Amino acid sequence: MSRLIVVSNRVPIPDKTGTAPAGGLAVALQSALEARGGLWLGWSGQSCAEDRIGPLQMLRDGNIDYALTDLTERDVEEYYQGFANRVLWPICHYRLDLAEYGRREMAGYFRVNRFFASRLLPLIGENDLFWIHDYHLIPLAAELRRQGVKNRIGFFLHIPWPAPDVFLAMPVHEEILSSLTAYDVLGFQTEHDRENFAACLARQGLGNRLDKAHFALGSRTFTARPYPIGIETNEFVTLAQRAAGTTLHKRMLDSLDGKGLIIGVDRLDYSKGITQRIDAFETFLKRNPDSQRKVALLQITPKSRSEVPEYEAMQRAVAEQAGRVNGALGTVDWVPIRYINRSLRRPALAGLYRMAKLALVTPLRDGMNLVAKEFVAAQNEADPGVLLLSRFAGAAHELKDAVLVNPYDVEGTADAIARSLTMPLEERRDRWKSMMNALRANDVFTWCDTFLGDLSRYEQVE
Ligand code: F6P
Repeated sequence: MSRLIVVSNRVPIPDKTGTAPAGGLAVALQSALEARGGLWLGWSGQSCAEDRIGPLQMLRDGNIDYALTDLTERDVEEYYQGFANRVLWPICHYRLDLAEYGRREMAGYFRVNRFFASRLLPLIGENDLFWIHDYHLIPLAAELRRQGVKNRIGFFLHIPWPAPDVFLAMPVHEEILSSLTAYDVLGFQTEHDRENFAACLARQGLGNRLDKAHFALGSRTFTARPYPIGIETNEFVTLAQRAAGTTLHKRMLDSLDGKGLIIGVDRLDYSKGITQRIDAFETFLKRNPDSQRKVALLQITPKSRSEVPEYEAMQRAVAEQAGRVNGALGTVDWVPIRYINRSLRRPALAGLYRMAKLALVTPLRDGMNLVAKEFVAAQNEADPGVLLLSRFAGAAHELKDAVLVNPYDVEGTADAIARSLTMPLEERRDRWKSMMNALRANDVFTWCDTFLGDLSRYEQVE
């Protein structure tokens, strides 16, 4: 078996506390890689002055060798906070209004991708298989090809690929699009994303579509397919079952004092639809006064990308909104929204999911959303909670038996909350069983094996 080299911007650096890394990418990849072994290169999370970049830090944890690189302060500002998170992220999430394009940031993005390529080059063996992840590193294969790398290189996009009219509004869309053609296998979360990508190629007259999945450009061919990412389904079931009886579980139950728990878990990000969700919850409470004091929404929202102005603004907006609703509707002994900005460890989260009657997973746009999948896996089969899911999350393509909502429709979402909280047990069980079947059929190991199987077998079409 060839050695696998994974590259992603964010790496779950092993630490002594075992704290969960932020974001679905790191969690999913780590479980998949642990089983297979390999080398994982990424950013250390540290920045330094230009003349202080040292050699790669090498660490080993279980089956995985980590190679971590620092970036300069300028790199982080231009590549990560700039082009990746103020241009690509908003555009891929259909927020052209929030995209702040600048040539300096764009140049920084390509420069850092060249830098990642230069860090990789000395580590590469002839048969190594490359798997590059997410929007930070789109140009990496093209940089490696320029340096003569002939190995098979795959790419997986964890976030949505937008419709052509949105994508093509981005300056430098041509460079971004054509650099993707340097990969052998391109993976998207859904069929819809792959078709948006294919439509962008067609609109730009870039290459020919040979069949549904194969494309040709000049002397190269590549394939693009959906590979919906999964979770460690069985492990998560066990985590949730074990959580009952822990101190946190007991404290939570005591504090609920018979009230029904509704849960939301998201990075603090404008794509997650948190303000629309709080509006919907408020509308639900106002329209259903009998439910007041009988439910509590626990919104767990770790801060994210705080140096990016749009995220900073969002932090203020959500805190104010939660405070306003609690002020308007709360009573001396009831707080409608419990809003916390800390991340919890996975076992604690699993226990809270299991305790909840309802999860609100209502992103305005999301590549997949693994919270939706984890919530389903955590449920007690005898009395499962309900998943209320945005139809604009990749997960909605698989979890068709969730209660699907349009998160822009606040009143519709409020009605769906009411319906979910009174859903008969039999219907809850039926929906849960069908969603659980989907999670068992496609867990994170299947995702990884399918992608890597396709990549390792990929031959350039003559
Ligand atoms: O899943 C999308 C993603 O952007 C990952 O690439 C990333 O690791 C995660 O969300 C968290 O974001 P960040 O790395 O910017 O903290």
